[in-house]
Amino acid sequence: MTGESPNGEELLRRLSTAVPHPARVYDVWLGGKDNYPADRAAAAAGLEAFPSTIQSVRANRAFLARAVEYLAAAEGVRQFLDIGTGLPSANNTHEVAQKVAEEARVVYVDNDPVVMLHAQALLTSAAPGVTDYIEADLRDPRKILADAALTLDFTQPVAIMLIAILHFISDDDYPYEIVNSLMDAVPPGSFLVVSHLASDIFPEELAAFARDFNARSSEKVILRNRDEVARFFTGLDLVEPGVVEVSKWRPRSELESAAANAVWCGVARKTA
Ligand SMILES: C[S@@+](CC[C@H](N)C(=O)[O-])C[C@H]1O[C@@H](n2cnc3c(N)ncnc32)[C@H](O)[C@@H]1O
Repeated sequence: MTGESPNGEELLRRLSTAVPHPARVYDVWLGGKDNYPADRAAAAAGLEAFPSTIQSVRANRAFLARAVEYLAAAEGVRQFLDIGTGLPSANNTHEVAQKVAEEARVVYVDNDPVVMLHAQALLTSAAPGVTDYIEADLRDPRKILADAALTLDFTQPVAIMLIAILHFISDDDYPYEIVNSLMDAVPPGSFLVVSHLASDIFPEELAAFARDFNARSSEKVILRNRDEVARFFTGLDLVEPGVVEVSKWRPRSELESAAANAVWCGVARKTA
């Protein structure tokens, strides 16, 4: 476990369960139990605004697993920096990666103290694999990189995973610069994996979904269109099939490909 301990007052503020938090609302949609009434109310309102929310969330998790398996099996990636871990669920990054290569090293990062409590207990792996957890904010990539360097070797390829997290970073917080600084820290042969809520798939439903969520939560959702999501991959080589809906990224079956969702995604290689 890496990271600074917050003081008591700060911890109390952050542990507040009276307002919904992304990790816990997402946990409701995934059928988890680590959530509170405010999270369940936000989850229900989200479902009302966008009835395919649960399919969308499942399609996003399935994309995460396919992308990690692809990177470990087809590209030989052995190091993963997974920022915006979420509460432990099925097919967590280290489980998928270590199924392909037991020596895979995975560092998880999240800013929700409740995620940290669970991660401590559940996100463990047996040697030779390594799993570590950092409590940090994506808006502070320097801290993330410094702490992750205790576990990951930044002279070797790393997959930077930003799955369903960049839509919590507003343009005022420089999301493109944050991604660039993370990718600048890894060598050629590394990968960027992104999924992001869309403004141009089910646009009316998603606008209502974001409006409601933002009225309840201190973490605001920012929807982006396909071009804005593709911009995160500037200077990198997109792996086929490019920037597509999560259900259309190398689906394993027609059923998987047909899942309704409003999430863009892509995987790209750093070549130079
Ligand atoms: C929607 S969940 C996605 C979880 C997982 N990546 C997945 O796709 O299944 C978003 C996660 O990002 C975390 N998160 C949101 N904003 C963050 C930030 N600025 N820094 C670090 N973590 C953040 C939330 O706490 C939550 O666990």
